[in-house]
Amino acid sequence: MPISKQVTLARRPEAHVDSSVLRIDEVTVSEPADGEVLIRNLVFSLDPYMRPRMDDEASYIEPFAVGAPLEGGAVGEVIASRVPGIETGSHVIHMAGWREYALLPGKAVRRLEPSDHPLSYHLGVLGMPGLTAYAGLVSVAGLGRGESLFVSSAAGTVGSLAGQMAKLLGAGRVIGSAGSPQKVSYVRDELGFDAVIDYRATPIMDSLGRAAADGGIDVYFDNVGGDHFAAALSHLNDFGRVVMCGTISSYDDPATRTIPGNLFDIVRKRLRIAGLYVNDHVATAGDFSRDVGQWLRDGKLEVREVKFQGLESAPEAFFGLLRGDHTGKVLVEL
Ligand SMILES: NC(=O)c1ccc[n+]([C@@H]2O[C@H](COP(=O)([O-])OP(=O)(O)OC[C@H]3O[C@@H](n4cnc5c(N)ncnc54)[C@H](OP(=O)(O)O)[C@@H]3O)[C@@H](O)[C@H]2O)c1
Repeated sequence: MPISKQVTLARRPEAHVDSSVLRIDEVTVSEPADGEVLIRNLVFSLDPYMRPRMDDEASYIEPFAVGAPLEGGAVGEVIASRVPGIETGSHVIHMAGWREYALLPGKAVRRLEPSDHPLSYHLGVLGMPGLTAYAGLVSVAGLGRGESLFVSSAAGTVGSLAGQMAKLLGAGRVIGSAGSPQKVSYVRDELGFDAVIDYRATPIMDSLGRAAADGGIDVYFDNVGGDHFAAALSHLNDFGRVVMCGTISSYDDPATRTIPGNLFDIVRKRLRIAGLYVNDHVATAGDFSRDVGQWLRDGKLEVREVKFQGLESAPEAFFGLLRGDHTGKVLVEL
């Protein structure tokens, strides 16, 4: 029976998460019973939504339990199986990340067919963040050909994909924002956005006004909330749409949540604001896999990953994610 290291929520954060909130435990994992598989995790995903799950707050997903391992997307190899149709040696995707081994019921895993893509892509471009970007543009915003788009956190996983996919779907001008000169160059020069704002260098209200002076914004894909949301309300065109995908600017300190003073812009311009939750969009997954698979084969999507090695690296990698230290999909390889 394997010994498995796992990252456990030791206590709930008071404001900023730090190393006192997480601890590394060792547990013994049992052999699978009937209907279960034992998985050796190969790679797991670190995602911003994991930070609000550490708080005891209502969301579209249950808070993490104190004293239990954290959860999240992971890809692993089945090392013992008592589930017909899931053979030892097959690769599966599941939600028991942040640990080395996972013992799960067969219905909690999805078998991955062999493909030319790296396994880690199922946690990024071909997985949850990719579907978030695609469904946000296609199903929530109904982005039309020639329409202009503003995407915040444009160097991040969802933002970088949303901007590139928008172009591939026929959007007009695509504007992004990012938090450093290096990220601005990456988004403009490697991802092909038309204009990119360094939101830490000048107030986003002013810089977005300048970037959108030529034609305004038809759709805002919001990953950040706060000042970005307020600036977008001011610079959206009449009948513009907002896809509310996330509000990472206040995840690590709920006290920084703000209400924009310009909410009347929503009325004045007859804006539509829609929340997005990726799990509502499984019906879009077929179109998503077809289009993204083709774009990857054609070399039309730039994908960047940041890989940390070993379970012990996960807490600090996650704190860095929240600080904006990384450029690309943040993963932990085991
Ligand atoms: N609703 C859904 O179903 C769903 C699904 C997936 C993701 N999401 C949301 O989508 C957003 C992006 O996720 P992701 O996977 O792309 O994350 P990611 O790749 O980890 O990127 C996160 C980036 O957010 C930026 N950021 C951090 N603090 C910020 C702040 N105070 N102000 C502005 N930007 C800040 C940082 O980039 P900079 O250095 O550029 O600031 C950081 O690199 C998150 O809000 C997440 O919760 C929602």
